[in-house]
Amino acid sequence: MQKKVALITGAARGIGYGIATCLARQGTQIVIADMNGPAARKSAKQLAADTGVEALGLACDICDRTQVAKMIRKAVKHFGRIDILVNNAGICPFVDIMEMSEEMFKKTMDVNLNGAFHCTQLAAKEMIKRGQGGRVIFITSLAVNVTSAQQGDYAASKAGLHMLMKSFAISLGPKGITCNGVAPGMILTDMTKFHWEKPEPAAFIKTRVPVGRIGTPEDIGNAVALLCSPEAAYINGVGLIVDGGHQAVCA
Ligand SMILES: NC(=O)c1ccc[n+]([C@@H]2O[C@H](COP(=O)([O-])OP(=O)(O)OC[C@H]3O[C@@H](n4cnc5c(N)ncnc54)[C@H](O)[C@@H]3O)[C@@H](O)[C@H]2O)c1
Repeated sequence: MQKKVALITGAARGIGYGIATCLARQGTQIVIADMNGPAARKSAKQLAADTGVEALGLACDICDRTQVAKMIRKAVKHFGRIDILVNNAGICPFVDIMEMSEEMFKKTMDVNLNGAFHCTQLAAKEMIKRGQGGRVIFITSLAVNVTSAQQGDYAASKAGLHMLMKSFAISLGPKGITCNGVAPGMILTDMTKFHWEKPEPAAFIKTRVPVGRIGTPEDIGNAVALLCSPEAAYINGVGLIVDGGHQAVCA
């Protein structure tokens, strides 16, 4: 049987690389797409060395539809197929909504929401053409449901992403392509380490996350792998919270 191919955006580091690692361990071939081209190529090389799967690193700014189309063409030319798309690339500027510039607000929307629209529409067209179904995973956030003054742009983009996922799930379900969200809780990555490595937030994790630790990129990767498994074929249009029980805790 031919090996599956997963394309993961923003996978040069962090959660995206964790997802790439978990899918590669199942034998899936990987396309690491990231706006940082050299980092994408370096991470693809590392992944191939660590897991033994073939991995391709491609430069792509997902805000630019022309770049997305080119990236998908290159992935299909190289591997002949795309079975799984993971919309992972995202930004979180952490600026109070009253201080935020219009440019910054639009940028967050462009990366977190519009980028996933371009990638899903164009990758799904390839999946439909091949006629063997597929899986699309959207990396959302707990900010789909809760927010703060510093996350107005981020939460709006992620809540929008959650609903975008549902619309694609309805449109693509009849073609055998399922779409689901994974909402990570507190995960230690370059995006968040400035916060979680301070003593007070570290203590917060101990008391407010029932499993007693901060999440890892591979905690999210394992959830994505679960949703991409054959056993998950009937799961469509839902969001899975992966937060160690954090959101279950009452203030
Ligand atoms: N870390 C957390 O606690 C956490 C929690 C909830 C959700 N998330 C979400 O998980 C995803 C990954 O987060 P992370 O913590 O690994 O972030 P990160 O900043 O460590 O990595 C993000 C990657 O995306 C790439 N990227 C950014 N903009 C891009 C663009 N326009 N086109 C292509 N690539 C781009 C970056 O170059 C980087 O490699 C994001 O969508 C984020 O919102 C993270």
